[in-house]
Amino acid sequence: MTTSEIRSKFLEFFKLHNHSIIPSAPVVPEHDPTVLFTTAGMHPLVPYLLGQTHPLGKKLANAQKCVRTTDIDEVGDSTHLTFFEMLGNWSLGDYYKEESISWSWEFLTGKDWLNIDPKKIYVTVYKGDSVVPKDQESIDIWKRQFASVGIDTGEGDRILALGKEDNWWEQGGVENGPAGPDTEIFYYLGSDSNPRFDSDNTDFVEIWNNVFMAYQKHKDGSYTELSEKNVDTGMGLERASAILQGLDNVYDTDILAQIKSSVEEYANETHKDIFKATTPESSLRASRIITDHVRCIVFMAADGVRPSNKDQGYVMRRLARRAIREALVVGIHQGLFERVASKVIALYEDIYPELQNSAEIMDILRREENVFRQTLVRGLKEFDKMIKDQKVLDGETAFTLYDTYGFPKELSLEEAKRLTLEVSGGFEDEFEIKMQEQKQRSRTATSGQFKGGLSDNSEIVTRYHTATHLMYKALRDVLGDHVVQRGSNITSERMRFDFSHDEKMTDEEIKRVEDIVNDTIDKNLPVSYEEMSKESAIDVGALGAFGEKYPDVVKVYTVGDKTGEYFSKEICGGPHVENTGKIGNFKIIKEESSSAGVRRIKAVIS
Ligand code: ALA
Repeated sequence: MTTSEIRSKFLEFFKLHNHSIIPSAPVVPEHDPTVLFTTAGMHPLVPYLLGQTHPLGKKLANAQKCVRTTDIDEVGDSTHLTFFEMLGNWSLGDYYKEESISWSWEFLTGKDWLNIDPKKIYVTVYKGDSVVPKDQESIDIWKRQFASVGIDTGEGDRILALGKEDNWWEQGGVENGPAGPDTEIFYYLGSDSNPRFDSDNTDFVEIWNNVFMAYQKHKDGSYTELSEKNVDTGMGLERASAILQGLDNVYDTDILAQIKSSVEEYANETHKDIFKATTPESSLRASRIITDHVRCIVFMAADGVRPSNKDQGYVMRRLARRAIREALVVGIHQGLFERVASKVIALYEDIYPELQNSAEIMDILRREENVFRQTLVRGLKEFDKMIKDQKVLDGETAFTLYDTYGFPKELSLEEAKRLTLEVSGGFEDEFEIKMQEQKQRSRTATSGQFKGGLSDNSEIVTRYHTATHLMYKALRDVLGDHVVQRGSNITSERMRFDFSHDEKMTDEEIKRVEDIVNDTIDKNLPVSYEEMSKESAIDVGALGAFGEKYPDVVKVYTVGDKTGEYFSKEICGGPHVENTGKIGNFKIIKEESSSAGVRRIKAVIS
C-alpha cells in the first residue's frame, strides 16, 4: 500500500465516521510563539482541546506536517526524521475511549482499510498513579477487540499497563497544555509466533497513539481535570508506510525512496573523488540525511521560513548546511537543492498546494546553497589543516574556524565525530570565552570609529557617503529585501559597495537603481540624523550592515522627512550632506561578483 493510499484511506475512514477533515496547519505554529515548530497534529488544536469551540465541529481528522529536530543527530539511521506527516483524529468533548479504540482497531485490521493481521498488534495502557487511576476501561475495550478475532489476551501478554514515562502524553516544553493517559498500539516486526511483548524491544514498533486528554497541566506541574474529555490520536505516516510495505526502515518507503534515488542518481552523475566516502555505510547515511533534510527545508520554505541566524531560520539553515556537507560525502559538489528539492516539490505538491510556489522555494534554497558552499569547502580544508596534529578538537580551534572562515561550530563538532576525534571537555566554554573576547574587541574598535567619525570628511567623500545610502535603499527596492550591506569603501574617486545578492544584476536593474538614486537627488530631500538606542533604530526599520557591531547608542540618518515620508533610514556615523541635491549625478560603473552570494558595485558621482 502506498503512502498516499494510507493517507487517503485514513481521511476517508474518519470522514465516514462523521469527522470534518481539516487542512494541515503550517509547520510554524500560527498562535504559539513559545514553540518553534508544529511537533504534533494536536499542536494547532490546543485552544480547542482546552475548551474553545472549533468552527468545524467536535470530530476532526487530518494529516499534519510536523517538524521535530530534537533527534537530529540520529537522522540517517532507519527510523529518525526531522519532518514527518502525522495522521490524527480528534474528539473535542465528543466520543471517548470506546469509539476511539474501536475505530483504531477497525482501521488497522479492517479488510477495507489497512488489513493488518491482528496477531501482530500489541498495546500498552496507563497503569495509574495517585492522581489518575489505572486505565481499566481501555484494557476492557482492547480485550473485547482481541477476543472478537479469537485472540486470548491472557495476563499482560498482549496488553501491558505501564507508567508515566510510557503512557502519559503531554507536549514537551509547553506550559498549561492539555495532557492525559494514552494507549499505544505496537506492531510486531519479528518472526516469533508467540513473542514476549516488551515495548522497549525494537521488534515492537509503535504505530499509533491514542491520548485521552482529560487534564490540563499547569506551570507548577500540577494537573486539573478539563471540563470536556477529549481524544487526540497520532499515527506517524512514514512509519505506517514502512510496516505496510514490509520494510525495516522509513527511507525505503515509496515517497522517501524516490527522493533518496534522486540523491543517488545525481551523485552517480556528478561525483568527484575529493571527499568521496570510502564506505557504503557512510554514503547510505549521507543519502538518508540529505533526503530527510531537503524534504524538511522545502516544507519550511513553503511555510515562510527563511534561512537566518535565529529561531526557525537557524534550524532551517542548520539542516540546509548539514545536507550540503553530507552531499560532499556522496560526491555532490553543486546543485544539490536544484535537483533534490524539485523532486520533493513534484512528489508532494498535489497534497500540499503551498509547494506550488516552487519558484520562490527554489530561489531561497539555491541562494543558501551558493552562499554556503564556498565557506564549506574552505572551512573543511582549514579544519583538516588545523587538526592535523591534534587528537582533540577544542573550542578555541572551532572558534578560529568560525571567526576566520565562517565555518559553523556545529559542523566542527560533526567533523570531529566523523573523524572520531575527541572533543575537549571544556569545548563549549572555550568557544564562548573566545566569542566574548572577540565581541569585546569589536565593541572597542567600532566605538572608536563612531566617536571619531570618518577618517576623511572632505566634501566629496561626504557626498559619496550620502549617495551610498541612496544606492543601498534603491538596491533593496529593485532587487528585494535580501540585499544587505556586506561592506563599503569610499575614496574621493569612487564608492565601492558589497551586498548580498547572488545573481548578476541585469542592465535594466542597474538602470533602475541609477534612476531611483538620481530622482532622489533631484528631489533635493533633506538629510538629518537622530541619536537613539540600537533597539529603537531596529524598531524604526533603520538599515544596517551585515555583521557590524554597533554601540548601544547609534545615529540614524534619514533621507527625507524624519517624522513623515522618508526615502531611507540607516544607522551610520556620518557625516552627510544636508540635502540630496548636493550630491551631483550618480552612475554605476561596474557590477561584479565579490564572493559567494555577494555582489560588488563601483559607482561614481560627478
Ligand atoms: N499527540 C500524540 C502524539 O504525538 C497523539 O503521540
